[in-house]
Amino acid sequence: MLSMENLNQSYGESRILRDVTLRARRGVCTCIMGRNGVGKTTLLQCIMGLLPLRSGRILLDGADISALPPEKRAAAGMGYVPQGRQVFPMLTVEENIRVALAARRGGGRDIPPFIFTFFPVLKEMLRRRGGDLSGGQQQQLAIARALAPDPRLLILDEPTEGIQPNIVREIAAAVRRFTAEMGMTVLLVEQKVPFARGVASDYAIMERGGIAAAGSMAGLTPDTVKAFLSV
Ligand SMILES: Nc1ncnc2c1ncn2[C@@H]1O[C@H](COP(=O)(O)OP(=O)(O)OP(=O)(O)O)[C@@H](O)[C@H]1O
Ligand SMILES: [Mg+2]
Repeated sequence: MLSMENLNQSYGESRILRDVTLRARRGVCTCIMGRNGVGKTTLLQCIMGLLPLRSGRILLDGADISALPPEKRAAAGMGYVPQGRQVFPMLTVEENIRVALAARRGGGRDIPPFIFTFFPVLKEMLRRRGGDLSGGQQQQLAIARALAPDPRLLILDEPTEGIQPNIVREIAAAVRRFTAEMGMTVLLVEQKVPFARGVASDYAIMERGGIAAAGSMAGLTPDTVKAFLSV
């Protein structure tokens, strides 16, 4: 389980995260939702250690990881797929995945075959450059890269943004298997409510840097969606 306790973060004078307290239960997907600019990506970057916290604590399965640098968080089993994918365009698909393996303790091992059971297309494209893939394939590659070290917690930032519907469906199926078959904990940022409902058990809605509502996905009412998510 991932616990966030009273997280605060600021860019200069502007406060971005306000007392964020939230739990992502083990072995299920929790979806963080909220309009543009409310602080979703900032929260994920703080969880991964890519941005410093002003105050608060982050616990992974009970261990305080708040002071660890990003590479130690990765080594502790946290995988991260950033918003906008950020695959290496000049590296091949295989090299993109190997970069993630090299970061692993005793790295340089073979790419674990289970990755290709989620996204078989990548196996056919191992020699292709990341930059030559479609947007949807790049997203699948970014997820595969995060999976390579076999994380226990996978964090995804808007994986369906600008992606064609058939690949969105493949990503949804993959996320459901991460939790159901692999027992992974997934923390997802997603603005599309139908996608979120299809993969997540729990939700949290952010507004102006704080948690405005949270609960089980089954209890997410149309009124709440209207109040916090509709444009
Ligand atoms: N490097 C930065 N320096 C200063 N302000 C920033 C920086 N990055 C983000 N912000 C501001 O912090 C706020 C939260 O941004 P963040 O990217 O976390 O939002 P978000 O919910 O992920 O938005 P989106 O849905 O568009 O991805 C925004 O007002 C943004 O302008
Ligand atoms: Mg964002």
